[in-house]
Amino acid sequence: MADRFRYRLFDILRSYYQGNLKEDYFQDSSEKRLYRKIYFETFRHLGFIERALGKLYSRPPEADVRAALALGACQIMFMDDIPEYAAVNESVSMVPKQKRSFVNAVLRNLARQKGTLMKDYSIRQDFPDWFVKKWEKRLGAELDAFLADLNTKPSFYSVDPTSMTIEKAEGEADGHIMDLASFSVARLAGESEPLSVLDCCAAPGGKTFVLSHTYPDARVFAVEKNRKRYEQLKSAMAEYKNVDCICADILELDTEAEFDLVLLDAPCTALGTIKRHPEVRWLRTQKDIDDCARRQKEMLEKAVKFTGKGSRIIYSVCSLEQEETTAIVGQFLKEHPEFSVEAPVCDEKFMDGSYFVSLPYKSDADGFFAAVMKKK
Ligand SMILES: C[S@@+](CC[C@H](N)C(=O)[O-])C[C@H]1O[C@@H](n2cnc3c(N)ncnc32)[C@H](O)[C@@H]1O
Repeated sequence: MADRFRYRLFDILRSYYQGNLKEDYFQDSSEKRLYRKIYFETFRHLGFIERALGKLYSRPPEADVRAALALGACQIMFMDDIPEYAAVNESVSMVPKQKRSFVNAVLRNLARQKGTLMKDYSIRQDFPDWFVKKWEKRLGAELDAFLADLNTKPSFYSVDPTSMTIEKAEGEADGHIMDLASFSVARLAGESEPLSVLDCCAAPGGKTFVLSHTYPDARVFAVEKNRKRYEQLKSAMAEYKNVDCICADILELDTEAEFDLVLLDAPCTALGTIKRHPEVRWLRTQKDIDDCARRQKEMLEKAVKFTGKGSRIIYSVCSLEQEETTAIVGQFLKEHPEFSVEAPVCDEKFMDGSYFVSLPYKSDADGFFAAVMKKK
């Protein structure tokens, strides 16, 4: 059993070094808990691990060797679950015979020099330079606290669907588990009592679930473009009588209907979810942020078509990058004087002027941004 997870982990790292890793996620379970931990720790510290390994060879080796070295180095430098010799042996066994002596030599050397190498460790090396620079400009002296928190375990919350209250879940909780920020975003229109709700980007349905319970008198239309994700959404929503699921591209949806509340939980870089997806920091580039921003602007423009007098739009993303958040909403409000921003209904810790902002190191939730805009 362990072998299956060990090789999956190795494949993930190898794909990363080959430049074709898509987000992955080691779901929790008792058999693979250790491998999930290695996965998290490796991506959390990959920047520093790469620097340390870089001091031990003259030029970067092939992807499979780099993957084996990264996994071994992480266990040697950042974990004490496995004896060093076992971590070295495991990495050695993952590469073809002719590469084994190299992996063995580099990792043994690393283990010997661990003390000296670790003296250079700083949390900033665990993140890409572009990310550190951007956030240093925004947070100044609080940068290290922000980054350190991103490398800690994410919190889980459990929702009671009857009372619609949410509580922090310790360990393996029962019930409907979701992130506190994601839960809060779907409730930002407060007691506006909409009778028709359009959830433009709905799967896997976390916010559809909250909308359905928060507004039991409303009809909730949940749209999802991706067929597989739509099927998941549909089955998750099967019991909810006030939800209709629609498999469609919101940009091509042609309807005269106007909705009291339109939630646009737009596709984004997901850089706010680094705590749950530690690899995301290494996969995104400035180009991805700009591409997402262009699509978000287009989707928000489309959302307007579904509104009438007095309708509200909630625009949200699980990213805190300015291009995907304040820049989108700022420009939208300039181009649409018929809309004005409304104070979000939420816990004070999420309030940032007129916007909802969840900074993980302050909110104990995922990074999220949202704005509520009302049509006059
Ligand atoms: C951020 S996720 C939504 C998460 C969801 N609101 C929740 O709380 O569980 C974005 C979703 O939008 C879908 N999507 C992307 N582009 C779309 C489009 N043009 N029309 C409809 N859905 C789209 C994606 O497939 C993805 O499932």
